[in-house]
Amino acid sequence: MQASAHRIADRISSISVSSTLKVWADAAKLRSEGVDVVDFGAGEPDFPTPGNIKRAAVRALDANFTKYTPAAGIEELKRAVCEMHARNFGTAYQPGECIVTVGGKHAIFNLTQALVNPGDEVVIPAPFWVTYKDVVNYAGGECVFVDTAEANGFALTAAMVEPCLTSRTKMVMVNSPCNPSGALVEREEFEKIFKLTSERGIYLMTDECYCEILYDSQPFSIASLPGAKDTVLVAGSLSKTYAMTGWRIGFALAPAPVVTAMTKLQSHSTSNPTSIAQKAAVEALRGPQDPVAAMLAEYRRRRDFVVQRLRAIPGVTCVEPRGAFYVYPNVGVALGKDGIADTLQLAERLLAEVRVAVVPGEAFGTDQHIRIAFTAPMQDLKRGLDRIHQFIVKYS
Ligand SMILES: Cc1ncc(COP(=O)(O)O)c(C=O)c1O
Repeated sequence: MQASAHRIADRISSISVSSTLKVWADAAKLRSEGVDVVDFGAGEPDFPTPGNIKRAAVRALDANFTKYTPAAGIEELKRAVCEMHARNFGTAYQPGECIVTVGGKHAIFNLTQALVNPGDEVVIPAPFWVTYKDVVNYAGGECVFVDTAEANGFALTAAMVEPCLTSRTKMVMVNSPCNPSGALVEREEFEKIFKLTSERGIYLMTDECYCEILYDSQPFSIASLPGAKDTVLVAGSLSKTYAMTGWRIGFALAPAPVVTAMTKLQSHSTSNPTSIAQKAAVEALRGPQDPVAAMLAEYRRRRDFVVQRLRAIPGVTCVEPRGAFYVYPNVGVALGKDGIADTLQLAERLLAEVRVAVVPGEAFGTDQHIRIAFTAPMQDLKRGLDRIHQFIVKYS
């Protein structure tokens, strides 16, 4: 049958192909052809999963822990998640308020599908992680974007959020540290946003995917505020903190009825996250945490290097990320030159001409930036930044 003859469901056309995964695929294809590509596209740690976590998975295999588990995850892991959150942030979640998901993305997908009705508005600060808008669109919701400004370090404030709240607002999605900008929401502003949302009975989703990757502040969760558990929805992931992207373990902490609704959905889609990965996740959360500190120290070294190299390119500006492992430089200086109309074309030309993979800012809701993941060893960062420097100087 011809591609055009297939009658794909309408709801699929409300979502787009994840552009971060597209860059990853394009770069992987070139590499498989033997091309020397420097990959700054993939948002995943280049470190191996720590040995204690891998050994826990091997033990689970040897013990034949290879059957179905409860759809929302094993009790032991739900407890470990609640304990970790209590230890790090002073919250008091119970296993009935926790669901283990197939990665953090799945937690956000299930939360959104469980709560957003067609026509509901969801407030999303920009730049935003690509998936937010697609999961809201898939649920039939309407995205309301709040632009943050590069000049203010992409900082989100309550004053920016307030005018966007209407009687139709169902949820506000906050991601601190932010992918792609690395910006943090200051605690005081986060508390004000919580006040605005909780007073109106609006859910506040806090995506804590990068909450352990912080360069100049202590981890904090808005869920620790008194009364927060009624309207705050925590989406978490082990992928980045423990270099476990392929294991696919994430979680949500939410009011029990929300967890029940998510579990219902999960029981008809993925069922449980992989049994072996769940055992590994217990070890990640309860075992020694020093590998996390070691990775953070290396990310800091790389961040300092990358920011300094980008700022040395004439015309490029670069906000210093305060968390996560991305920089989001403004490369507007090279736009409009030699047919490079937008950052999408700039990313394509970077890959085609100097073999560097980056993600265009269009994917994240801004039009002058590219995202560079510094999840590559120093020598690759040096090579890649030399190439980006040459490319931008040539076209600016
Ligand atoms: C902001 C943010 N949230 C959540 C996730 C989900 O990660 P995963 O599904 O790999 O656990 C990602 C992954 O890139 C992310 O960048």
